[in-house]
Amino acid sequence: MKKHKRHPETEAVRGGMDLSKKNGPLSTPIYQTSTFEVTDMEEQVRATPTDHFYTRYGNPTHTVAENAIAELEGAEAALLFASGMSAITTTVLALTKAGDHIVAQRDIYGGATKFFTQWLPKFGVEVTLVDTTDYQQHAKAIRPNTKILHLESPTNPTLRVVDLKKVAAVAKQHGITTLIDSTFATPINCRPAEFGIDLVMHSGTKYFGGHADLICGIVAGRRDLIDTIHATRTTLGCNMDPHAAWLLLRGIKTLAVRVHRQNDNALRVAQFLKGHPKVRSVSYPFLEGHPQRALAMEQMRGGGGVLSFEVEGTGEDACRFAEALNLFTLAPSLGGVESLVTIPVITSHSMIRPDEREKMGVTEQMIRLSVGVENVDDLIADLEQAFAVVKERQPVGAVRF
Ligand SMILES: Cc1ncc(COP(=O)(O)O)c(C=O)c1O
Repeated sequence: MKKHKRHPETEAVRGGMDLSKKNGPLSTPIYQTSTFEVTDMEEQVRATPTDHFYTRYGNPTHTVAENAIAELEGAEAALLFASGMSAITTTVLALTKAGDHIVAQRDIYGGATKFFTQWLPKFGVEVTLVDTTDYQQHAKAIRPNTKILHLESPTNPTLRVVDLKKVAAVAKQHGITTLIDSTFATPINCRPAEFGIDLVMHSGTKYFGGHADLICGIVAGRRDLIDTIHATRTTLGCNMDPHAAWLLLRGIKTLAVRVHRQNDNALRVAQFLKGHPKVRSVSYPFLEGHPQRALAMEQMRGGGGVLSFEVEGTGEDACRFAEALNLFTLAPSLGGVESLVTIPVITSHSMIRPDEREKMGVTEQMIRLSVGVENVDDLIADLEQAFAVVKERQPVGAVRF
């Protein structure tokens, strides 16, 4: 009989657990311990490379979550980190040395841009930023010492979509490791490993956790790369706390249900905003008019729960609008069950120079919404009432998407 392949919804709920084990607790135990006792020196030596040695190296609660994530991403292995930023920094430090070079997309999460452009040069690693969807620029920027091609799709907060097959092919041709921040997509909407991407990174703080109650980072990918990153994680000391890993595991069980609902809600919100006279532009991958909509629909199962739009007005109007919302909470994160609103130039991209932000397409009028699992008609009613604070204006030029 042909072996049945489980769907992501099932992997999310049952992944990581050894289902053949009977009479155990249904909920994974929290190994809330920093260290593990052994009976003798022989056992001590045997325990060292395992998840029963010392929690900075690994922990059984983490192992269950890491296995569940690897299954969801269709990757060989996965690792947890204390934050999304530590997942990026540890991975990059593990795979580069002084004299190496990295090519990174221009419009990515501001914290990653800051690490690439302000920190890596201090350690002798050079970074070239390229236009996100100009693949010729990606190829041209590659040098003999280029080690990593860093990607993000969809991008934060501009929601551009990267052609994963194309970039994977360019990187393979030059023997470069591809690392993608797939936080916005989640493995429910896109599994970059299927397109040939080597390492998939997430801020697990967002959709994986899903309840705005933990900080976490994730990297999944090829076993040999994960082993190298694991050794660096141990040295840099940025593993997760076991209790937070258990919360993460609980979040993963409802990941698929939440993301399906957020996909539906966000598309409805994007369609509402697109038709509003006080909106200049809307960015959402599955929205008609998005420049990479066809690509998004080919490589993603849903457009995700995040969208951004520009108000027809000033930066001041955008701020007043965000403050006037009631159901969308003013807070700088995304991916949780509650809808959130933020102004990228004040939060996620505040550390980026205004001229660089302009090149990324992040304007003062831009508002980023993280659409939660509430009733979508209530969310739209909240947006509608908040537009009252934005003054009527004649649109400047054509509507951009
Ligand atoms: C796309 C993306 N990547 C990475 C990060 C960093 O993750 P963390 O806040 O968990 O360190 C964020 C945070 O907002 C993000 O939005």
